[in-house]
Amino acid sequence: MKFDVVVVGSANLDLVAQLDRLPRPGETLRANSYSEYAGGKGLNQAVACARMGANTAFVGCIGDDDAGKYLRGILDSEGIDSTHVRVVNAPTGRAFINVDAHGENSIVVVSGANAHVGSDESEFKIPDGGIVLAQLEVPQNVIALAFSKAHDNGSQTVLNPAPAAPLNEKLFDLTDVLVPNETESLALGGISALLKSGVGKIVVTQGELGAEIVSQSGTERIAPFSVTPIDTVGAGDAFIGAMCAELARGSSLQEACRMASVAGALATTVRGAVPSLPTRSAVLVAQGTKT
Ligand code: RIB
Repeated sequence: MKFDVVVVGSANLDLVAQLDRLPRPGETLRANSYSEYAGGKGLNQAVACARMGANTAFVGCIGDDDAGKYLRGILDSEGIDSTHVRVVNAPTGRAFINVDAHGENSIVVVSGANAHVGSDESEFKIPDGGIVLAQLEVPQNVIALAFSKAHDNGSQTVLNPAPAAPLNEKLFDLTDVLVPNETESLALGGISALLKSGVGKIVVTQGELGAEIVSQSGTERIAPFSVTPIDTVGAGDAFIGAMCAELARGSSLQEACRMASVAGALATTVRGAVPSLPTRSAVLVAQGTKT
């Protein structure tokens, strides 16, 4: 079976404190409230794809624990194929997240099981998909392997280089669409360096300013969609998932990014990563193309 999108990535339990402001180094603050949500950039992007109508598979690792069972349950309830989710001898990934009164966040990720993705290299299989999407919360050599298999199958590859880190050289050539935010783009040397790197197209997400599509032929702005944010966790994941789902439908990158810009903005209006990811019909209604 060929999936629209195959996501190779992380699955985390997000432990989220809501505070008036983010703590300074050495400071202890009292939170206003605390919540736990399904998260992880990989799982979030898989759910975002599925809610946008893409037939989606997730490849990742969880621990043999309650958090792992909970996250597998989320994948199942979203209709995401989890045949290639392995249970490994490590705790399910965790993310410690602070969200301030303006919706800004800071995140510390503990990889746990996510570090084991692809550790069974000889048996590591990627299901067939029109698009193979990855982020940097799983080992980069595994992403390179997945992208190289994807290209052998004629699939398109999309990389979200988050969290920011230097990239394995091979990934520049193996990535068709790179989707960094501004911080991640700077960490990779900035746009002009990226344009020389071998990456096909670059979509830079800019939060409340929208996004830019950058290629050798120039830059195209994608307008922001205006909302009042309460929690920005998962907004980038909503953008990327929506973009991939729309590309899989046959939309141009410009059209896909316009839908993604609305999806990313809507995600900031709901607390938590997975709970905030919009459906395609919510995006169309917000865009004014559906009542
Ligand atoms: O992009 C947001 C995600 O980053 C959170 O869900 C958290 O788990 C971290 O992976």
